[in-house]
Amino acid sequence: MNIFVLTGAGVSAESGLGTFRDKAGTGIWARFDPMKLATPEAFARDPVQVHAFYNMRRRNLLQAQPNAAHAALAKLEAGLAERGGRLFLCTQNIDDLHERAGSRQVKHMHGELLKARCANCEAVTPWREDLSVDAQCPRCGQSGGLRPDVVWFGEMPMHMNFIDKALSEADLFVALGTSGSVYPAAGFVAEARAAGVRTCEINLEPSDNARLFDEARYGPASEVVPAWVQDVLA
Ligand code: OAD
Repeated sequence: MNIFVLTGAGVSAESGLGTFRDKAGTGIWARFDPMKLATPEAFARDPVQVHAFYNMRRRNLLQAQPNAAHAALAKLEAGLAERGGRLFLCTQNIDDLHERAGSRQVKHMHGELLKARCANCEAVTPWREDLSVDAQCPRCGQSGGLRPDVVWFGEMPMHMNFIDKALSEADLFVALGTSGSVYPAAGFVAEARAAGVRTCEINLEPSDNARLFDEARYGPASEVVPAWVQDVLA
């Protein structure tokens, strides 16, 4: 069986990284304005403020640990491979918790917080420290051109060719811990349905797209995902 799993902030919520939108109004975008912090225009206008936001999130990430949902997905990847199948794990998350839990192949469609990209030479390099407007690119040596290697609003998500192909080839599409409010990921369920792929939602509560899924499992990811993986590999 080929399974395509799309993860969102909900899979990392129990690792303490916070989600963007929630019904209580305490999500990241209720506290911080995305138009001032997560667009190319914001970075051009006020790079110090944008760096501070991502520096805070990078520090939080370095303190965080993967949870049982990340571990279960790593087990699913190995288990499907043993059975001649495949897991295509695509995440909107910029954290590295899937990798730290043991997932080998992860497509980060919104980039990665622990990498920096140089505007001068385009090199992408691992980055665990705070970034600043003076930081020097380890590849070309120029200062002032580094930004987090993440996708901002108005920019093209990464790896879309691989993602579209894998989605159309899957037997099952699973949206996990995502509110279904940011495109193109929010459109994957409709794409999957159009390609005849079965669809399943795993989330704390029904998402904006809930009616488009053939099946659903609701509850905290750390409980629901291990149980679902056990059923798939049974
Ligand atoms: P959201 O914050 O929009 O949605 C998170 C979802 O996870 C919600 O539907 C929650 O109900 C659910 N959730 C919360 N805690 C959970 C738990 N313990 N177990 C399971 N589910 C839980 O996050 P995303 O959909 O990932 O993009 O957001 C998509 C994009 O919007 C992000 O990648 C980011 C943001 O703006 C950029 O920054 C470009």
